[in-house]
Amino acid sequence: MTTQLTRPSQLTEPPRLVWPTAAVRDSYLAGERADCVAEGRPMEWLGAAADDFDAFVAQRRGEQIRWGVPSTLFWYVSGEHYIGSLVVRQRLTPELAEAGGHVGYHVVRPWRRRGHATRMLAAGLAECRSLGLDRVLLTCDVDNEPSRRVIRANGGVPDGRMHGEDRFWITLEAARS
Ligand SMILES: CC(C)(COP(=O)(O)OP(=O)(O)OC[C@H]1O[C@@H](n2cnc3c(N)ncnc32)[C@H](O)[C@@H]1OP(=O)(O)O)[C@@H](O)C(=O)NCCC(=O)NCCS
Repeated sequence: MTTQLTRPSQLTEPPRLVWPTAAVRDSYLAGERADCVAEGRPMEWLGAAADDFDAFVAQRRGEQIRWGVPSTLFWYVSGEHYIGSLVVRQRLTPELAEAGGHVGYHVVRPWRRRGHATRMLAAGLAECRSLGLDRVLLTCDVDNEPSRRVIRANGGVPDGRMHGEDRFWITLEAARS
């Protein structure tokens, strides 16, 4: 498994949300590995992913039932570079309505603090609109100031705190015809 990190100072293509793709294999493995190392998380799953990345990707493409609801995973990529992930949950369970919400995301460490999460969430909200949602709930840990800033920058309106998570609603603009 490669662990080489490639982080050019400038991306040649604007990042966009796509379904998981083998085109970013090395960058994905390196970026997620960097997060696992920094957070002390197990890395066995990365070895399995590297062994058959095509299968890893195929298992993650398209709508899937996760958290008990139809969910879609997107990767934020520019060319061969993987920047982060965003998941859209199309419905709320009672649990998700309290903490978790419709949208979850992360940017891998090598790419943080460059505005990617803010722009990635904006792109994710457009996907939510395409999926028929007109209002989405986002929640973040009360200590997660970066994520709170990402949500507020995208129009998040606070709606209290539950289970140690701040809750925000974002009303989506009508899709342009
Ligand atoms: C939260 C996260 C997605 C932010 O990603 P990012 O690409 O670094 O975010 P941005 O570059 O768009 O920065 C957003 C804002 O947070 C600020 N910020 C980012 N990292 C910060 C840090 N470590 N400390 C303080 N502020 C920080 C930025 O300066 C920016 O503020 P501004 O809008 O006032 O200028 C990323 O840190 C992450 O993946 N964390 C782990 C997973 C997670 O928390 N996901 C969200 C779950 S709700």
